[in-house]
Amino acid sequence: MAILHVTKYGEPILRQKLKPVDYQKIAPQLPRLLKDMEETCLAVHGVGLAANQIGLPLRLAIILLPGEKEEDPPKRYVIINPKIVAKQGEKIEEEGCLSLPGLWAEVKRYTDVTVEFLDETGTPKKMRARGLLAKAFQHEVDHLDGKLFIDLVDPKSKPEVKKIIKKLRAQWD
Ligand code: CO
Repeated sequence: MAILHVTKYGEPILRQKLKPVDYQKIAPQLPRLLKDMEETCLAVHGVGLAANQIGLPLRLAIILLPGEKEEDPPKRYVIINPKIVAKQGEKIEEEGCLSLPGLWAEVKRYTDVTVEFLDETGTPKKMRARGLLAKAFQHEVDHLDGKLFIDLVDPKSKPEVKKIIKKLRAQWD
């Protein structure tokens, strides 16, 4: 098991739209990969991690949804080839990203989404989510499409966000 390097804003792989994976091809490496992704995500207190955030051009991500109580373990969702098939309701909330550490900005997201994906056993799933899970699904699917949450920031706030990123980048490894 290993804690992996998380790619940061500016690295080209974060801007790649990732093609769907062939489940059978990645299945042998999947248990190890998911364990490493989970460990990495936990180590940096993230809610989700997409494969391109650890430098892999695979259309898959994990979400670690915090438990209700602090002592509860997070619930892990593995989403392979995810696709948002329905969405409704909008809300502006603060968001962050492991690839832009230190930055928090308000973005508009759907409050209710339905996602289709393969789970870690290769089984097709369809799931409706609200709240933080709905946000996490959108954030991770965006990553797999080469998008970052800062793309969704209100245009009026973008110059300020750019300034903050410039300062933060000097501190990233
Ligand atoms: Co992110």
